[in-house]
Amino acid sequence: MIDKSLLPQHVGVIMDGNGRWAKKRGLPRTEGHRRGAEVFRTISTYASDIGIPYMTFYAFSTENWKRPESEVAVIMDLFRDFLHEAEDRRAENEKRGFRFHFIGDLTVLPEDIRALADYMESQNPETWRTTVNVAVNYGGRSELVHAAREIASRVRDGALSPDAVNEQTIAELLYTRGQPDPDLIIRPSGEYRLSNFLTWQSAYSEFWFSDVLWPDFTTDDFDRALEDFARRSRRFGGI
Ligand code: IPE
Ligand code: IPE
Ligand code: MG
Repeated sequence: MIDKSLLPQHVGVIMDGNGRWAKKRGLPRTEGHRRGAEVFRTISTYASDIGIPYMTFYAFSTENWKRPESEVAVIMDLFRDFLHEAEDRRAENEKRGFRFHFIGDLTVLPEDIRALADYMESQNPETWRTTVNVAVNYGGRSELVHAAREIASRVRDGALSPDAVNEQTIAELLYTRGQPDPDLIIRPSGEYRLSNFLTWQSAYSEFWFSDVLWPDFTTDDFDRALEDFARRSRRFGGI
């Protein structure tokens, strides 16, 4: 068991490798997504058990629209299932102290998904122990463009002076406003890149990579990442 003071406050997870997991088993890629969605439930539950206050899971990027329509449709269906289920799990989620938040541009998603996501956020308890951010149609660059547009329009309207724009101004215009930056970002599947995840927020994140494909990712893998994190020396530019 890791000393609680050495636990990260915010962990980002890039849930990658679903397709390869399925291919290895001769299954359609969509089976990998199905299995990956279960692992998301397992790891978020475990994170709340051990007391991590913020988790962000990358579920669908702004670039993932390039995939075949049929694969995108299955991913959207899985998201829909998760939102429907939330209603049945409300008591359990509340007991766990979960608060759910969706990050990304949800305005282009099917109307029913948007409505369910809004409803789920509106049902969040006032007191919570673990915030679970689910990144859907999320892109770090798109998030920054969104913030830049907002700043430009405030300046145009005379509500903001260009000289007053600072790092805080930008941070408060991101989907993660009010949350600490991710201390640790986990990427399984043997890829060593961010793929447009938390571009601004990851400036000082620690990274942990693994060859395990996301559907095979276990709480033991998560523990290994946390143990490694506990041994890192973070200097933030100091000495
Ligand atoms: C991650 O798994 C899920 C999404 C990006 C939606 P992938 O579907 O990217 O799986 P691989 O990388 O092709 O194995
Ligand atoms: C990143 O995985 C996005 C998600 C896990 C949602 P990708 O599979 O889309 O990333 P690349 O294409 O390998 O960089
Ligand atoms: Mg991938």
